[in-house]
Amino acid sequence: MNHRRALRAAVTVAVTGALAAAMTMTLTSTASAGTTLRASAAEKGRYFGAAVATGKLSTSVYATILNREFNSVVAENEMKWDATEPQQGRFSYTGGDRLVSHAQANGMSVRGHALLWHQQQPGWAQGMSGSALRNAAINHVTQVATHFRGKIHSWDVVNEAFADGGSGGRRDSNLQRTGNDWIEAAFRAARAADPGAKLCYNDYNTDGINAKSTGIYNMVRDFRSRGVPIDCVGFQSHLGTSLAGDYQANLQRFADLGVDVQITELDVMTGGNQANIYGAVTRACMNVSRCTGITVWGVRDCDSWRGSDNALLFDCNGNKKAAYTNVLNALNAGPAIPTDPPTDPPTDPPTDPPTDPPTVGCSASVSLNSWTGGFVATVKVTAGSAGTSGWNVGFTLPSGASVTNTWSATASGSTGTVRFTNVNYNGRLGAGQVTEFGFQGTGSASGVMPTCTAS
Ligand code: G3I
Repeated sequence: MNHRRALRAAVTVAVTGALAAAMTMTLTSTASAGTTLRASAAEKGRYFGAAVATGKLSTSVYATILNREFNSVVAENEMKWDATEPQQGRFSYTGGDRLVSHAQANGMSVRGHALLWHQQQPGWAQGMSGSALRNAAINHVTQVATHFRGKIHSWDVVNEAFADGGSGGRRDSNLQRTGNDWIEAAFRAARAADPGAKLCYNDYNTDGINAKSTGIYNMVRDFRSRGVPIDCVGFQSHLGTSLAGDYQANLQRFADLGVDVQITELDVMTGGNQANIYGAVTRACMNVSRCTGITVWGVRDCDSWRGSDNALLFDCNGNKKAAYTNVLNALNAGPAIPTDPPTDPPTDPPTDPPTDPPTVGCSASVSLNSWTGGFVATVKVTAGSAGTSGWNVGFTLPSGASVTNTWSATASGSTGTVRFTNVNYNGRLGAGQVTEFGFQGTGSASGVMPTCTAS
């Protein structure tokens, strides 16, 4: 994939009136002004992060800036598939573990990047296809997310799966050719492996309302409606000399789907507009209450993949640039993420006793996403008229089928008769209320019928 070409395409959008206005705007901050990016972001309930190459942590200028200014880190390369599973089934976490330790020692959270991507696949995966690749990919998600369980704030579960240009569709890749459901299978496996991490879809050239961002928007809306576990969308924001006028509106439309949004790989072409664009992006994030953090893709200009673009916030000597000042001012001037409003005291309970005696019970239905050699089952549990305080769903799997992952339920057994019990947050259902859980397996589950018992 040619990011440079994509980048050049992305930079043709004209500077808008909004940005032009922003350029001349003087920020008058009445908020208590933080003096570092991390303090100012934290005051507003957000993080400010940088992509890190752990080899540079021993460079003192680099480490000093990183530790002073950033409260989130992401591995620029060291948690990718080629780095973490160089040979099939042999995992290597040296770089990732080192970054996590550095983060923990310095009060930083960690973004995980990236579980599945068509680029930076190890050679052995590049040569695979079909169910062998699908199973290897899902196993990769499970193993890596399990290794880092409890240590990752947000995972880029899938990176850059949509095509550039006007189609709004998926990018062709070996992963895509395993079946359109590969993305949801990856999210389900990630949730099962690390239920505490926010799970993000991440992409570039999504810096406004365009065909590509709309394709992603439609996928997220579909996932939310079907209970596929997605929590956030990452907007890489590798920017040129202008910014789309609807950058903030685009973030907001995703937030309105009920997911967090994050700026995940921000860097901006040098030149007259650089500082203004950095300020405008930061303000856009601050103005969207579900925009929970910003990550820049490197620390100093010389650390950047964009080389002579001088695209970052610090020059090669570690000095703050004008872009830094604009970001800091925008963080200080922006609103904090609102906290949940206090809930109203409960009203009086209804006085009339129920007439019909309630019937106990529940029902369950299953939908299967199957491929040769594997499947993901999504199970809907519906409470009867008495509601439930807990439920148990049983399946008899065909021989050869085996459960490998479960989410939103606890499994007992993995072959033959397998039972799934509610977890603590989804056992209590009101009359007619529905909840979903799921499991993944190898083999075929075709024709399975669930039975549901309520307690
Ligand atoms: O470490 C090896 C080194 O041993 C070898 O001598 C050298 C020779 O080419 O390569 C080095 O690896 C390079 C690696 O960066 C570390 O510098 C790879 O070739 C190079 O391909 C890799 O580039 C990374 C690129 O992703 C891969 O596509 C960039 O550092 C990284 O900034 C970039 O990050 C991506 C995000 O993951 C996804 N979004 C776009 C972003 C920019 O392309």
